[in-house]
Amino acid sequence: MFRDMFRSTLLAASRSTAVRALVESAPLSRLVVDRFVAGTGVDQALAVTREILTDRLVTIDHLGEDTTDRARADAAVETYRTLLRRLGDAGLADRAEVSVKLSALGARLPVDAEKIALDGARRICEAADAVGTTVTVDMEDHTTTDATLQAVQDLRLDFPWVGAVLQAYLRRTESDCRNLAVRGSRVRLCKGAYDEPASVAFRDRHEVDRSFVRCLMALMAGAGLPMVATHDPRLIAIARSLGQRHGTAYELQMLYGVRPQAQTRLAAEGERVRIYLPYGTDWFGYFIRRLAERPANTAFFLRSLITG
Ligand code: FDA
Repeated sequence: MFRDMFRSTLLAASRSTAVRALVESAPLSRLVVDRFVAGTGVDQALAVTREILTDRLVTIDHLGEDTTDRARADAAVETYRTLLRRLGDAGLADRAEVSVKLSALGARLPVDAEKIALDGARRICEAADAVGTTVTVDMEDHTTTDATLQAVQDLRLDFPWVGAVLQAYLRRTESDCRNLAVRGSRVRLCKGAYDEPASVAFRDRHEVDRSFVRCLMALMAGAGLPMVATHDPRLIAIARSLGQRHGTAYELQMLYGVRPQAQTRLAAEGERVRIYLPYGTDWFGYFIRRLAERPANTAFFLRSLITG
């Protein structure tokens, strides 16, 4: 109950420009942010990628979302294309892919939003194809689910390896899992990080966990690649046992900076573990979602502001 209220309050506060200005200007923010973000530029992202690749795989996210400016959307596409070229040049593209938010590519622009975002995503896929890696399209709040899944379906006509993300907290997701668990598909299943109404989402965390298990069962019984994106030890154990039972290949995926010891332990135990690695200057929205997932993170952040 307290956890839910805390999460909703923090995610609502993240829409305030005053809160954003306060957090971004706080002198110690950067130190706390660095736990979750691999630096601001592509060189730093590639350096961290190299370290992780010693025992795990990577998916790189160039931070940015909710772009309402066409020039910024175009710049985001170019940033991804450069990143992909650099991954290819460095010989890392066989183990590192990229994750993309359609709202960073223009999906919230006032005109032609869906077309602009889809064209941008297509150009990113072309660059990924050229170096032999893949793209996974992140999922944002529930108002975007249909459009995002449609975009993934369109992209998969030319780039069948494009991955989708589904959120177990949405009531619709078990059915989406059944539809997407087809040969060649790549589906990243996560709990979901936005503040969604009860009309579309389970609000009780036990219900979210039960939904996650039903979704896992659908994905593991299907013909695609399940990408199990959670740090929850119980759900990871269930995924491993379902994978073994069905003889299904799968990946375990976690966020950079979250349960790092579990990441390396699972890799040492022979699991395919992929780390979601964000970089860039537009870290605010991503960072607040990480704080909202765990009250202790927020306490640590607030203490760093007060004690300096
Ligand atoms: P839960 O929140 O219950 O955490 C389980 C345990 O993990 C906690 O007890 C704690 O030990 C640890 N933990 C979790 N989060 C932590 C944090 N921030 N700091 C410290 N410890 C933490 N969401 C979305 O809506 N759209 C998306 O596209 C994606 N993409 C995505 C990709 C990948 C690879 C991952 C791993 C996650 C996402 N997410 C996401 C985020 C996801 O929806 C969810 O919010 C987080 O993964 C936290 O949920 P858990 O499943 O880890 O469970």
